Amino acid sequence: MIRFLTIESTCDETAAAVITENLDVLGSALASQDHLHEHYRGVVPEIAARAHVERILPVIDQALTKAQLTLDDLDAIAVATQPGLANSLLVGLMAAKSISLACGIPLIEINHLHAHIFACRMAAKREVFPCVGLIISGGHSHLFRYESALDATLLGGTIDDAAGEAFDKVASMLGLGYPGGPALSKAAETGNAKAYRFPRSFIKDKRLDFSFSGLKTAVRYAITGNGKVDLSQIQLSAQSIADIAASFELAVSETIAIKSVHALQQTGLKRLCVGGGVAANRCVRAELDAAAKDNSFELIIAPPHLCTDNAVMGAIAIEKYRAGLFAPLNIDITPGLIRKANRVR
Ligand code: KG4
Ligand code: ZN
Repeated sequence: MIRFLTIESTCDETAAAVITENLDVLGSALASQDHLHEHYRGVVPEIAARAHVERILPVIDQALTKAQLTLDDLDAIAVATQPGLANSLLVGLMAAKSISLACGIPLIEINHLHAHIFACRMAAKREVFPCVGLIISGGHSHLFRYESALDATLLGGTIDDAAGEAFDKVASMLGLGYPGGPALSKAAETGNAKAYRFPRSFIKDKRLDFSFSGLKTAVRYAITGNGKVDLSQIQLSAQSIADIAASFELAVSETIAIKSVHALQQTGLKRLCVGGGVAANRCVRAELDAAAKDNSFELIIAPPHLCTDNAVMGAIAIEKYRAGLFAPLNIDITPGLIRKANRVR
């Protein structure tokens, strides 16, 4: 039985998991850094990288302990090398290279975006490819056509703010907590989603790109009343905050659902797999669910803890193990956003 360790350190979560070739998760551990970035209402790359350095070995130990295994029991080591914050990625990659060298086991590169879609495979416990994959995270709102786990073609993506980024920035404008997505979602629970009609960008456009910066600006105007007012000077009532949050959430969710339907129609595929932190959002899930019923496609969304960053989704590495796609020890990270690439491995 092949057993491999996966490492995730692309942004501000340090995570590791021990997984078998049958995709059984033997042990999984995750250390959050939310409290370190809270004050800044966003991830500070330098702080994130230093925190990964402190957490990476304890997290790996924890995953192995839960699995009741040691490094000597592993057959391969896999690590997310793209995309993400450069110095955060480096911490994970250095740990993985060290383990590969010390234990004499192959090194496997994980593409974090495709891993987010593989979370659906892990949750469904059955084949989910071919499908359209929608990744809605802090850095990406991307649609891919997947023939298989490793064969993906980019259909469209973020041209400005990603979905999660928009959630985080709007939460900050509304003076809500950090991380912004969950905080805004909580505030939206008591709001009227029809109180404001915010823009749904690109929904009539055939291109499968996403733009959320206009929506973010519309929220700013809703708060400031079109004036150039310092946001910190504005006192909104709890009900106004809830209404803006709910209206914003609905605008994002409807946009995401409509663009996903376009992607399914254009590709002729009948299955949508959704991953990334924003896929944990209640309203997004409800809108996608409604779209699936209305348009007769199969919808697979992982449970919320597998939508946000984790190492279990790194199980995609088994596909590379089987294909013999191992990485040499001199590989580097690829931090950049994926914008135009066609085939993205
Ligand atoms: O996938 P992820 O954990 O990290 C990246 O790869 O970026 O996504 C993080 C993003 C953040 O922007 C966070 O605010 C958002 O996902 N997020 C949410 C929710 N949970 C996390 N957004 C809306 N509703 C949520 N419940
Ligand atoms: Zn992610």
